[in-house]
Amino acid sequence: MSRWPNAYFMAASLYILVGVNWGLYMSITHDFATAPAHAHLNLLGWVSMAIMGGFYALLGKETPAWLVKTNFVLMNIGVVGMITGLGLMFTGKAAIEQLAPFIAVSEIAIVSGFVSFAVAVFLSLRLRVATRRTLAPAA
Ligand code: HEM
Repeated sequence: MSRWPNAYFMAASLYILVGVNWGLYMSITHDFATAPAHAHLNLLGWVSMAIMGGFYALLGKETPAWLVKTNFVLMNIGVVGMITGLGLMFTGKAAIEQLAPFIAVSEIAIVSGFVSFAVAVFLSLRLRVATRRTLAPAA
């Protein structure tokens, strides 16, 4: 079995460790300025990566490795880049004009990651239908 689902769950578990501690920090300090970055880290890094890993472990086992890898690399570049950019923006450590190109590239990586995931989902369905037709006994 491919080890890629493990890679997705490992990344997701690291993101949620940062995410929940970030949330705890906001609760303790009563400084909620970075809440949108915390939310995106948890929803993209934890929820989305775990769903993708679950898909590749269960339904998408036949997905070509290059596509699973492309999906993984794009999502990680996007999550790390976008959350860093949003964090710097909401803490006022850098101006939005300086960060905009960086955040935009990260967002494009995330959108491309979701596009590669959608391709994997549809491709996997096609492969399953084709396999079932091949295995079906002739009437
Ligand atoms: C120990 C775990 C967590 C803690 C302590 C925590 C804490 C917080 C805090 C303090 C806020 C800001 C609330 C405010 O602005 O009034 C927040 C917002 C939010 N959190 Fe968390 N959180 C945790 C886990 C999660 C998880 C697992 C998710 C999603 C999977 C999540 C998604 C969100 C969302 C969507 C928002 C709203 C962001 C916004 O209004 O811009 N959080 N969280």
